[in-house]
Amino acid sequence: MGTSGQCYSAEMPHAPADAAVVKPAARAAGRLRVPGDKSISHRYAMLAALADGRSTIRGYLGGADCLSTLACLRSLGVVIRGTLESQIEIEGRGLRGLTVPAGPLDAGNSGTTMRLLSGIAAAHEFRTVMGGDASLSRRPMKRVIHPLTEMGAAIASQDGRPPLTIDGARLRGITHQPEVPSAQIKSAVLLAGLQAEGETSVLEPVATRDHTERAFHEFGVRVTKTGDAIRVAGGQRLTARDLIVPGDVSSATFWIALASGTPGADVEIEGVGLNPSRTALLAIARRAGARIDVTIDNEDGGEPVGRIRVSYGSPTSFTIEPHEVPGVIDEIPGLAALGALLPEGAEMRVRGAGELRVKESDRISCLAAGLRAMGASVEEYADGFRLLARPLTGGTVDAADDHRLAMAFAIAATGAARPTTILGASSVDVSYPGFFDALERLTR
Ligand code: S3P
Repeated sequence: MGTSGQCYSAEMPHAPADAAVVKPAARAAGRLRVPGDKSISHRYAMLAALADGRSTIRGYLGGADCLSTLACLRSLGVVIRGTLESQIEIEGRGLRGLTVPAGPLDAGNSGTTMRLLSGIAAAHEFRTVMGGDASLSRRPMKRVIHPLTEMGAAIASQDGRPPLTIDGARLRGITHQPEVPSAQIKSAVLLAGLQAEGETSVLEPVATRDHTERAFHEFGVRVTKTGDAIRVAGGQRLTARDLIVPGDVSSATFWIALASGTPGADVEIEGVGLNPSRTALLAIARRAGARIDVTIDNEDGGEPVGRIRVSYGSPTSFTIEPHEVPGVIDEIPGLAALGALLPEGAEMRVRGAGELRVKESDRISCLAAGLRAMGASVEEYADGFRLLARPLTGGTVDAADDHRLAMAFAIAATGAARPTTILGASSVDVSYPGFFDALERLTR
């Protein structure tokens, strides 16, 4: 990967092989499925590794992040067989049953892999060293180091950043309130708590995605939520399960943005996860004028699954309020593409989103730089931005090797006057292998 999460000007040289050219598109129509949910895939693999018995997982995301999780689990002694096309089989090693890795673990680009696995490794009484790519190496880890240290692990880092050297221990339960609303911190602490002495509570004044809690329940672990406290008692054994990962609603966001911003569009996404802790983007897209119908068809692994049908309505200015941000933290790039496709003079505003600066890239400045390069007007704030829609010209934009930026720029590019070259486009493989083929099918 080229620029690895830092955004540069369009003059930055890139390997042409890592560029995609997106042409203007007058239409968007069709029905499709999106690849498996990234958050759920990570959790199912990790819990299956800690369970007693063999679990099977269908629909596991074949994106680079979730493959990093499988590779790390293999390094910790977990046997994983099968294929992503049919199903993977994970031989559980039982609670605290992982084994000493032969060498450092590579979490690649994946913050979820590093933070959640830290919670697991912290409870194993051996040393685990875990690093990642240039982007992950810049991301803050004190948010998991502090609670896991309080529980009894010893963790060394590069001033709070990866690589992490985790000396696991017999942990004790704690009560922890994360410094920022974060499902990754909550999950790291709950995973450690499951393997600790006594009870662990995470206080969450602002709710975040609850896949860990639902997956715990599926694997037979009792986890309770009272008010804003989520509690788990340590030492509960997990029972192997056969599970299906639903489509990722964060990936669906790009099609929702495309259909909301393309006159005459009508797109249906099937088999997509509709967990209410992940669907706040739908209300925002409706406020932006989209017509959206949602149907829940079934439930898999405690996760509601169904269809989202989006058609072009009356696109208009919209604001993402600070209290809504934790619920759409991964969807803001896709919603910004919708902002860029709004009629000239309409606006999109976001505040209270400072966390975007510590994602796979600085998503505020890289989004602003890319959308400006395509012709939008973007004012940047420390914790957000204001986008003023203008006729998009197209141009050359740098996705900063950030999957969600590459996809956001691709959606905005469909509304430009001329083709847009997206540098660092192969990063889409982190969460959406096949994204550009799907875009081609929906817009041709
Ligand atoms: C995730 C939580 C979010 C999100 C990330 C996946 C998860 O991160 O941005 O893509 O699977 O728990 P934070 O917990 O850091 O907000």
